[in-house]
Amino acid sequence: MSQHIKELNSTEVLNLIFTHLTKVSSLHNYTDVLNELANMGKALTNADRCTVWVVSDDKKTIKTKVAHGIDEIEIPINSGLVGDAILNSKKIMIDDVYQDSRFNQDIDKKTGYKTKSMIVMPMYDYEDNIIGAFQAINHRGSKDGFDKADEERLTLANTYAAETIISSKLSDEIDETQREVVFTMGAIGESRSKETGNHVKRVAEYSKILALAYGLDDKEAELLKQASPMHDIGKVAIPDSILNKPGRFDENERYIMNKHAQLGYHMIKNSSRPLLQAAAIVAYEHHEKWDGSGYPNQISGENIHIYGRITALADVFDALGSDRVYKKAWDDEKILHLIKDEKGKHFDPKLVDVFFDNLDTILKIRDTYKDIYKSNITCNKDINKNIQILGAYGTKGKNKGTTSFYINKNTLIDAGNVINQLDVKSVDIENIYVTHSHLDHVGDIAYMLDNYFVLRKKTLNIIALPKTIEAIQNSLLNDKLWPDFSKIKLHHSDKFAISYTKIEENKIYNISKTETIQPFSTDHTIDSCGYIYTNDGHSVLITADTYALDNVIDIINNNLSIKSVVIECSFPNHMEKLAILTKHLTPKLLFKQLEKITRKDFQLYIHHIKPSYEEIIKDEIEENHGDFFPIVLTDGDNICF
Ligand code: C2E
Ligand code: SIN
Ligand code: SIN
Ligand code: SIN
Ligand code: FE
Ligand code: FE
Repeated sequence: MSQHIKELNSTEVLNLIFTHLTKVSSLHNYTDVLNELANMGKALTNADRCTVWVVSDDKKTIKTKVAHGIDEIEIPINSGLVGDAILNSKKIMIDDVYQDSRFNQDIDKKTGYKTKSMIVMPMYDYEDNIIGAFQAINHRGSKDGFDKADEERLTLANTYAAETIISSKLSDEIDETQREVVFTMGAIGESRSKETGNHVKRVAEYSKILALAYGLDDKEAELLKQASPMHDIGKVAIPDSILNKPGRFDENERYIMNKHAQLGYHMIKNSSRPLLQAAAIVAYEHHEKWDGSGYPNQISGENIHIYGRITALADVFDALGSDRVYKKAWDDEKILHLIKDEKGKHFDPKLVDVFFDNLDTILKIRDTYKDIYKSNITCNKDINKNIQILGAYGTKGKNKGTTSFYINKNTLIDAGNVINQLDVKSVDIENIYVTHSHLDHVGDIAYMLDNYFVLRKKTLNIIALPKTIEAIQNSLLNDKLWPDFSKIKLHHSDKFAISYTKIEENKIYNISKTETIQPFSTDHTIDSCGYIYTNDGHSVLITADTYALDNVIDIINNNLSIKSVVIECSFPNHMEKLAILTKHLTPKLLFKQLEKITRKDFQLYIHHIKPSYEEIIKDEIEENHGDFFPIVLTDGDNICF
């Protein structure tokens, strides 16, 4: 009965997704599209059945548009495991549903089908409202039920199903043809890769201007304008974990990403519409280079279609000037320098001339369609844990706050910049793990207590090494510089406003059922420690201020659950003397020490830059980083681990 089907590797996962999406793009009917998406979920998770549930307009019921072997079914929204997943906005994974009282046996009774294992996950729209659920039933392999890998793959299928439902606005028919679906998928690629819609608009406008100036006629220039937004349509088939990786690719990830050109081409090449034919060319050739060193086919010169050559230039110009999950935007001088430099290498030389002749117009377009949101680093919430950076700098500057990490709703590491970011939410903070007592790490403790004192319901607990606590008590909250809140009672309670808890290096402390924190010693001018924060087996290591990294490097090399590392870099290279004296790092000192790291499978983040040297430090990091691809943090960023 149970077929033995081997585990899929990531290339097979991609191929599967690609096959199903290709089919989706040829379907005309909403139910068929969802059916195909359910088939994709089935194949990806090796489930016996997959069902897409949609919340009804009145939000009182959920119905299946698609259920393998079952006709349409409508049940109350609070019914069963699906209802539980939807109402509580959570994923559920169960080996035997009959052991679970939430399971609604009615459907099994009606159909005679025996449900055993199940994954069900809510499906969200762009505003995070729940619009339905994706359910996989009865794993068919040798395992008892579904596992984490199945869950991740179903999440991918879920994302596509959600986008499809949104794009067809819950109507029963897709009235438009293949073209609509393909356009939708273009948009999916874009929204999934966290690029804003304006990227596509700008590339379209740049392409038209370049086309006209190059000598193409109006009609062709307009065709290219409409086709060029689809250049990255193949990205729909790239897994989230790669597409949104918050750092530089390794070789394998690069290999998979580069497939987006062929993938996009194959998705749309069979259409006879001129627009889609143009889009197919653009998708296929926008990463070819004039000198033949591009991909996928290493064609060169005028063998690359003019549509491909134009979109290549428009795309790179725009990508360089935009923040991406893997890099910050470049400044104009650097961008224009690269384009000049790549004349006759990456880009058609004549096009580069045309580009500079029309630079004013191009910059005007960029300004008209500029990104409204400053894109921060965002984590894939299904794969990563994340921590928000409330303050990223080594001293205050305009709109630049000092060190503070928002670990969870109640917990911080350091409190340099809290009020600016959390404001009244700061009353929920109950625990602050402090690295050391320097003002840029503890300053906002004073204001957190003062500002919303009346609203605060819980004691604020300061957790740190004994010497650090002593310094805060003697030098900050000492009734001279600021009130001694450990003697002041909360407004509505008998408890004192502040309490102190001493910790020891290398001990592991529980924060919650799934979270722990472990201090380790760091090398600074006063007693100081860093922290390893672990959530559900994923860890991030934070040094705060330090000079020597020997023990830190040992920890990183030996603790493979560490997925992200945050290290300071305070001064530029020419201030090495001051750095050493004050026990801080420069890019050179940092990357010299990091040569002893034997792992590459973690993301390095850098913080604690002195704002007045920010640009030069960033340039020096760029020059010194070697095999590491660090992300330099600013206030409001997230780190993923
Ligand atoms: P994209 O971000 O839209 O970038 C499009 C093209 O702009 C890139 O094509 C590249 O030619 C140019 N470009 C963008 N950023 C830089 C940069 O920092 N330096 C230089 N020299 N060129 C840059 P490419 O390299 O073929 O990449 C295609 C797509 O693959 C990118 O589209 C992006 O989605 C993804 N990607 C590339 N490298 C990475 C990476 O290291 N990490 C992540 N997460 N994604 C990457
Ligand atoms: C449930 O969610 O509890 C039952 C629904 C089903 O069997 O599909
Ligand atoms: C989802 O849970 O449906 C979308 C999340 C993702 O793809 O990361
Ligand atoms: C994969 O196996 O690479 C796909 C799973 C995912 O990244 O969500
Ligand atoms: Fe591309
Ligand atoms: Fe500091």
